[in-house]
Amino acid sequence: MAKKDIIQKISGYDEIIRENAILEKYGFDYQAKRGEVKSIIDALHPQGLDLTVSEVNQETATAKSIKLVSEDGFLPPFQAGQYINLFVEIGGVRTSRPYSIASAPTQTGHYEITVRKIEDGFVSNYLLDELKPGDKLSSSSPSGNFHYNPHFHGNKLAFIAGGSGITPFMSMVRELAHKNMGRRLHLFYGCRAEDDVIYRDELNRIAAAHRNFTWDLVISEPAPSFNGLQGFINAGLIKERLEGLDWTLYVCGPEAMYNFCLPELAKLSIPARKIRVEVMGAPKNITAYPGWPENLKSGDVFNVAIKGKKTISALASEPLMISLEREGVVIPALCRSGECSLCRTKLLSGKVYQPNGVKLRKSDRAFGYIHPCMAYPITDIEILL
Ligand SMILES: Cc1cc2nc3c(=O)[nH]c(=O)nc-3n(C[C@H](O)[C@H](O)[C@H](O)COP(=O)(O)OP(=O)(O)OC[C@H]3O[C@@H](n4cnc5c(N)ncnc54)[C@H](O)[C@@H]3O)c2cc1C
Ligand code: FES
Repeated sequence: MAKKDIIQKISGYDEIIRENAILEKYGFDYQAKRGEVKSIIDALHPQGLDLTVSEVNQETATAKSIKLVSEDGFLPPFQAGQYINLFVEIGGVRTSRPYSIASAPTQTGHYEITVRKIEDGFVSNYLLDELKPGDKLSSSSPSGNFHYNPHFHGNKLAFIAGGSGITPFMSMVRELAHKNMGRRLHLFYGCRAEDDVIYRDELNRIAAAHRNFTWDLVISEPAPSFNGLQGFINAGLIKERLEGLDWTLYVCGPEAMYNFCLPELAKLSIPARKIRVEVMGAPKNITAYPGWPENLKSGDVFNVAIKGKKTISALASEPLMISLEREGVVIPALCRSGECSLCRTKLLSGKVYQPNGVKLRKSDRAFGYIHPCMAYPITDIEILL
């Protein structure tokens, strides 16, 4: 008997052939396109990106925007508000820092990031002082949850930005302008001085062209000639501008801004589910955080034993991830803010301090997992990598 005839005798063979014919007819023939779904997902969410700096522009005395293009001509899509984690090697230390994408998702040829100088900043100073067109960089794919969700956030969005915290909002505002969207946006932008305001002309241009985008600039240390809003973004101003307060609020900026603005929002009884906060890295001074052991000073040093490998010294006041990187031990990282869980590591013995806001699962706490990007050794410890 021929092979074909034998196969036809297998029970269910005819049904399978009929089912395949139906799937092919309606475009659901997954078998015929084996691997296609995976290749699309890999293209949309590659593990890492090879980037080339195409432009560097001085935006203010302390901030530059950097345009990045892909070496293979393709940049994965992203949602306005997401960030990339840039990997760098500085003086033999391999590390990374996340930067929000400031360009609109509709701009598919490049990503723009804007980096602000911070005093003694390890990576920001390197990027601002050394980076030039033609330089190569690598980064993660776009990540993060600080973006619009049409199911939950409604059509009225208010942004509270401080300093370089303007970047995710710039992407959202540019998207509105590019797509001529009907969404209503209002931006409160707080800066120390007028010279620190990034994207001022562009924000004015977009506001002039789109009635559904408005913005307020609030300067905390104005020059005598400044006659705009002064001080901090407070409950009074927010209430005055956001009629009915039925807006979703997004907050992004330096720590000091959260400390001031979040209590102001509480005064307005805006429900927590309507407030979205982007955390921009580890705190400046962890020793001032609630729950920090009183007897510990910022200069205290502990031993960190990496099981089966080596033992390093780590400052109590520095995230464990940084101490490891200084010693050439690099663990996977994305947000460096305790949010994404990528750096999740087993703590075998000893104690670390992890501030409120570090998104550890209950089971991680129970079984001794930590997020080294936001974990501070407060005794000698042993970890498993
Ligand atoms: C989601 C997200 C989005 C962000 N978006 C932006 C943005 O759009 N624009 C922007 O400007 N910033 C943004 N940031 C902040 C940014 O990631 C950096 O934290 C910021 O640029 C400061 O980094 P830094 O390395 O200069 O400073 P820090 O890391 O704070 O360094 C300060 C100190 O640590 C020392 N140090 C740190 N690491 C090492 C090391 N490995 N070895 C030796 N010494 C070290 C330095 O010498 C210095 O004394 C964002 C952060 C997050 C989490
Ligand atoms: S890198 Fe995201 S939690 Fe540590």
